Amino acid sequence: MTPLRGKRVWLTGASLGIGRALALELADRGATTVLTARNEQRLNELADEVRARGGEVSVKAGDVTDLERMKAIGAEIADELGGLDVLIANAGTHLFTTPEAFDTAEYLGLMDVNYGGMLRCIEAVLPGMIERREGRIVGIASLAGFRGLPRAAAYSASKGAMIKFLESTRFHLADHDVGVTVVNPGFVRTPLTDKNDFHMPFLVEPDKAAQIICKGIERGRKSISFPFPFSTTIKFLRIVPYPIYDRIMTRVWKKMQA
Ligand SMILES: NC(=O)c1ccc[n+]([C@@H]2O[C@H](COP(=O)([O-])OP(=O)(O)OC[C@H]3O[C@@H](n4cnc5c(N)ncnc54)[C@H](OP(=O)(O)O)[C@@H]3O)[C@@H](O)[C@H]2O)c1
Repeated sequence: MTPLRGKRVWLTGASLGIGRALALELADRGATTVLTARNEQRLNELADEVRARGGEVSVKAGDVTDLERMKAIGAEIADELGGLDVLIANAGTHLFTTPEAFDTAEYLGLMDVNYGGMLRCIEAVLPGMIERREGRIVGIASLAGFRGLPRAAAYSASKGAMIKFLESTRFHLADHDVGVTVVNPGFVRTPLTDKNDFHMPFLVEPDKAAQIICKGIERGRKSISFPFPFSTTIKFLRIVPYPIYDRIMTRVWKKMQA
């Protein structure tokens, strides 16, 4: 168990949703946070809230698709805080995919934010973690990355890429004493899911999600999947053969849209 108290945490996608809730939860747990997203005004307002709760925080706005900016933030963190203990690569987006409106550029754009954004942030901080032989990389993937979900082809692909990358890189980073945690939330109530026009089973509130994620990080968990009933179902569906998976998913998807 390694408490987050006193840890230096870089959190991306902090301006809304899960990231916003994480920033407040990290403050309550005594971490020093660096908040990144594109909307600087939202980040500054959130930083005021964090400070009002007694948290130490700084704002470094940026777009995770901009490698030079992510590297500059990584360098500023090293200068100002003397290093980084935890990266939470949370910035992400979603779009629905349908064969009638197939759009390669859009799908690659999504991949560039969700998967590419995580890679750029890792590149920005990994040399420092390896040098100090400590640190933890946390990627907010999704249960949607376990298996392709209806209407989520591009999103599932981007989250699947995150999961596989983190699983694989864990082997190499263990030699450098850098930990890796992959987080797979189910549905969480945020501006991203507010757009969904279907029933979301086992919907979790963002503050609850933030508590689960922080607790898992403190425990050094390799994987954090929630909520339990939903994640257990999806994990089971991961191992069933395609004919059964397709049949179950088609039925579930119809029910969710009813
Ligand atoms: N909500 C869910 O049910 C759910 C479930 C599983 C996984 N997730 C994952 O959890 C993460 C957070 O999701 P959320 O629901 O909290 O989404 P959200 O409410 O839409 O918030 C997304 C955050 O990412 C930031 N962001 C988006 N594009 C960015 C970019 N190019 N550069 C920097 N920041 C960017 C946004 O801030 P700016 O617009 O200010 O840049 C915002 O802070 C995502 O990776 C998502 O895929 C969510």
